[in-house]
Amino acid sequence: MKNIVVIYAGKYGATERYARWIAEETGAEVIPESRVSARDLEDKDVIIFGGAIHAGAILGIQTLKKLYPKIAEKKILTFAVGLSVGDKAIQDECRELNFTKQSSGFRRLVSGGRPARMTEREKQFSQLPCWFFPGAYDPSGVSGMDRKLMAVVRRMIQGKTPGEITSSERQLLDAIEHGADYTDRTAIRPLIEAI
Ligand SMILES: Cc1cc2nc3c(=O)[nH]c(=O)nc-3n(C[C@H](O)[C@H](O)[C@H](O)COP(=O)(O)O)c2cc1C
Repeated sequence: MKNIVVIYAGKYGATERYARWIAEETGAEVIPESRVSARDLEDKDVIIFGGAIHAGAILGIQTLKKLYPKIAEKKILTFAVGLSVGDKAIQDECRELNFTKQSSGFRRLVSGGRPARMTEREKQFSQLPCWFFPGAYDPSGVSGMDRKLMAVVRRMIQGKTPGEITSSERQLLDAIEHGADYTDRTAIRPLIEAI
């Protein structure tokens, strides 16, 4: 039997819920990203990483990136949880931002803004499979910076003319205002099959 671990980075519970559903179906160990170390992964055959999407960024992705040189030869599967992740264009943008851009960001900076050539390892990292799972949002449970950030997102969408607002933006707006729980256990199926 394969030795599997699910590492998750979330804030309000939806990402952890997916991690636990995956563990229930696979017998995987579950470790929060804040507590994971390279040693936890040494004896694992499959490493699953999941992070909540906050303002386009996948939480915890930097930890995965840091661990990557030590685990690159293992099977790595990832998932990202967000309220507005149904569109292929949004998924591609999120992949680009989190798996491709950030890895070459620093070298782009030192190379004077020119796109830096990616190393083989970075290229490999950018090709990791990532599934997108629908998340949840409860406005009454969110405060501080997170609440402000969501207000900015809401204003950005509301600033558009009605014709410009896409159906997924409309859905996001509704979730921000009234709360929503789109979490769905069946969403994990393709990831489970890929193990
Ligand atoms: C501050 C903040 C920013 C968010 N930004 C995004 C976003 O850019 N895209 C998206 O699809 N969902 C976004 N969401 C929704 C979360 O990804 C969603 O609620 C997810 O279920 C959070 O996972 P968690 O419950 O594990 O924290 C945001 C939520 C918060 C609180």
